[in-house]
Amino acid sequence: MDDPAFLPDETGGVNINTQTILLHASNHDVQALKPLLRIPGNASVQDPETGFTPLHAAIAASEEQDAEVDIEKAKNTVEELFFSGAIWNDLDKNGETPGCLAWRLGQGELYQMCVNAGVRAEMLLGLMGGYEELAGEDSEEQDEVGLEDGDTEKNNGENGDTHTEEHELAVGPAEEGAEKKDVNSEDYLKSNLTFTETALLDEDSNGVMMAWETDIMRKSVDLLLPDLPPEKRILNIGFGMGIIDSMFATTKPSTHHIIEAHPAVLLKLQQPDAEFGPKWEQRAEAGRYKIHAGKWQDICPKLLEAGEVYDAIYFDTFGEDYSQLRLFFTEVAPGLLDEKGRFGFFNGLGADRKVCYDVYGKVVELDLCEAGMDVEWTDVEVGELGDEGEGQWKGVRRRYWTLGLYRLPVATFLG
Ligand SMILES: C[S@@+](CC[C@H](N)C(=O)[O-])C[C@H]1O[C@@H](n2cnc3c(N)ncnc32)[C@H](O)[C@@H]1O
Repeated sequence: MDDPAFLPDETGGVNINTQTILLHASNHDVQALKPLLRIPGNASVQDPETGFTPLHAAIAASEEQDAEVDIEKAKNTVEELFFSGAIWNDLDKNGETPGCLAWRLGQGELYQMCVNAGVRAEMLLGLMGGYEELAGEDSEEQDEVGLEDGDTEKNNGENGDTHTEEHELAVGPAEEGAEKKDVNSEDYLKSNLTFTETALLDEDSNGVMMAWETDIMRKSVDLLLPDLPPEKRILNIGFGMGIIDSMFATTKPSTHHIIEAHPAVLLKLQQPDAEFGPKWEQRAEAGRYKIHAGKWQDICPKLLEAGEVYDAIYFDTFGEDYSQLRLFFTEVAPGLLDEKGRFGFFNGLGADRKVCYDVYGKVVELDLCEAGMDVEWTDVEVGELGDEGEGQWKGVRRRYWTLGLYRLPVATFLG
């Protein structure tokens, strides 16, 4: 073979010349790239030193200092690479995906192409029965980040958790040398919890809920119940520190149902002085103020069977992946939400990396649409929370939130 893209390796076999592909990519030379990209895998080769893929190379070269770069050529190159199977979330040695690089270089259009490619990939994976994990910066898996089976919370810190999402996406050892463990629902529900003034932590010091999220809870209540009317029917899934439930309670709802699965949280709720303990349950007609002990997956079918309907539903669990959140809003929310009701959830999916957060946001939007719902987003500024292991994260194993903006979703039925 004369083509410089193919060189014999030490074993005498034919090896792809990664450098040639990267060079053509950084020259935005689609014509030279095309024949090479016909070979499966070539669109995602990686430079052993920098970890650059052809996408990284094409995006990095869109910001040449001394040369005029034709952005259309850069876009064509990126498009060709995606058509040829380039992976949207491969990490380079700096821990950046091509999308992260595009964002850092101020290349908005290239960034959006990466987000779109991520959405396409994740939707396809979803159709095939499972979301790929969007591993966070700190995860052991440094090759690729992904929407995992999408933790919906504050779980794994690998971009797929929501509070599983949120939390999950960003799981990473706070201390040097700390062992990384994935958070999962089964282990979490068996683990010991620590309650402090400002946080609820699991056995591995993962933040299940933290006081810095109070503003987000406040805004969520204000948007789920505009003007905070009394006598509304409310369902909250995941008690945590009871922050959002205290806010819901001040509106004097006619129904206030709380679903909580963790035995330690439930035990705390049984204490005589608990705000949402037995005395609170007796404050309304039987069954109207109620803690439902158990997993939402087991409780919600009973609520559906009992014909319960709510004006506002909030979903914020921990240790669950995006498949569970999706299950909730496709299979459960449509049956429990009043036709004029509002549904919100903690939007922490992918929150340790902007590109993953944006991909998740779009995936959620598309899945909600399939469930017959429209979503409105409100940006909430998140203040300075400190670096890993510092500030708000002192004593917390993983900084599951790194972004400046929280995108607050409120979903309603279409039409
Ligand atoms: C992030 S906290 C909720 C925080 C709450 N929004 C607040 O304002 O304090 C998540 C809660 O969900 C609970 N949880 C986790 N998985 C659950 C499940 N499958 N069903 C019900 N509750 C669950 C956890 O035990 C935890 O108390």
